[in-house]
Amino acid sequence: MMKANMQVSKNFQISKIEDRLYGSFIEHMGRAVYEGIYEPTHPTADDNGFRNDVKELVKELNIPLVRYPGGNFLSGYNWEDGIGPRENRPKRLDLAWRTIETNEVGMHEFFDWSKEVNAEVNMAVNLGTRGVDDARRIVEYCNFPGGTELSDLRRQNGHEEPFAIKTWCLGNEMDGPWQIGQKAAVDYGKLAAQAGKAMKLVDDSIELVLCGSSSSEMPTFASWEAEVLDEAYEYVDYLSLHRYYGNQENDLENYLAKSIDMDNFIKSVVAVCDYVKAKKKSNKTINLSFDEWNVWYHSNEQDSKNEPWQIAPPLLEDIYNFEDALLIGCLLITLMKNSDRVKIACLAQLVNVIAPIMTEKDGRTWRQTIFYPFMQASLYGRGIALTPNIQVDSYNSRDFDNVPYLESIAVLNEEENEVVIFAVNRSKDDAIDFECDFYDISLGDVIDFSEMAGFDIKAINTSAEEVVKPSPSEEIRVENNVVSAKLKPLSWNVIRVALNQ
Ligand code: AHR
Repeated sequence: MMKANMQVSKNFQISKIEDRLYGSFIEHMGRAVYEGIYEPTHPTADDNGFRNDVKELVKELNIPLVRYPGGNFLSGYNWEDGIGPRENRPKRLDLAWRTIETNEVGMHEFFDWSKEVNAEVNMAVNLGTRGVDDARRIVEYCNFPGGTELSDLRRQNGHEEPFAIKTWCLGNEMDGPWQIGQKAAVDYGKLAAQAGKAMKLVDDSIELVLCGSSSSEMPTFASWEAEVLDEAYEYVDYLSLHRYYGNQENDLENYLAKSIDMDNFIKSVVAVCDYVKAKKKSNKTINLSFDEWNVWYHSNEQDSKNEPWQIAPPLLEDIYNFEDALLIGCLLITLMKNSDRVKIACLAQLVNVIAPIMTEKDGRTWRQTIFYPFMQASLYGRGIALTPNIQVDSYNSRDFDNVPYLESIAVLNEEENEVVIFAVNRSKDDAIDFECDFYDISLGDVIDFSEMAGFDIKAINTSAEEVVKPSPSEEIRVENNVVSAKLKPLSWNVIRVALNQ
């Protein structure tokens, strides 16, 4: 058995973890909205046509924030198409996914749904086909109390009170050649600055997310970040990061190491933000919004055969396996470890489209393998992330050197009177004899030790059976503020221990 030691102390804190780290994302694409959250003919549909069975699963995930309405869809979207009486709403071509958008669901319906699942909306403004005028108009429509044409239109459409949307994205992936209205960095930076300025003149309580690169693989990565920040630094609060992973090579050791890529990506973007801060001699710090992250590759081949101009065709319907859940665990721990600068993150996406939750038309809903690590992190990864000092063996993989077999972090949650350890054992051969010394944190009893382990790495869940899910483990003890546990080979572990009062 391999040994691993971790030491933490309440004097060595990374940061308080923001609730918005456990956000998610619903785009008008595929079956995310239609046949996903919304299906008026479904037996569980509520009066507004939204599926109650889906709402229940979303609530299990305890999501504080949902990004909406896109994604690539955003860059050709006119939000006015989705307001007012449904019978008057136009059907439109969605050029991003080459489908037909019926506009049956728009911002009012989505806002009501988000309230029911206890989440805030992270709204995005279209800076692909639209600009400053539209950006200020949508903020006025959503957030201004009343007495103007746009705010009164919102009231007339059924929302007397403002939506009070706090977090706003300034476009989506504006560096991408696939993006409608793609822009050069300087052009996007100037547009985002002016749009952001106008939006904050309407409501100075909002927070703005500037588009970073679509991924760290983009040829303009890092210079894009520097240039857009150069133009818009004064007006924005966060810079976005997007990254999807896959195991195309079918190389498990390398796949599970891909959280190191996420860590490097975050640290590089922090470096650019701070470079621009220094260059501008500014006192303001730009934080990060990792507003698209997930595994995305299983559905690529299927999607390449998709026929255009359908309404809500199945798109990006990745079926996740156990190894994906392990990587998601490593990525969640990486986000927590960087919570001093990553203040917002959105698992992309939430229902049917690269999603933890799947639905059948007229039928069941079910939890994918990745549902569980995300749910447990969202439920228990709240509080203060403690700096993990870890000694463990490491390995070299195709793309990464010195990959530690153990990925772990501890979170101190004084409000709930507990500490929580999240840990992934990346070894397929060895269990880890794990000891975590909490030094100056006085520990009581174990509340719960939950593990996901022992499954075939390619095992999946289906609507008929959720095979891959956590189960309790007994192999744990706490003595003298030291937690000792056995972490099985290839496992995701969540250990909750009470604080001594
Ligand atoms: O989440 C799916 C797509 O991935 C989004 O529309 C886009 O922003 C990204 O390229």
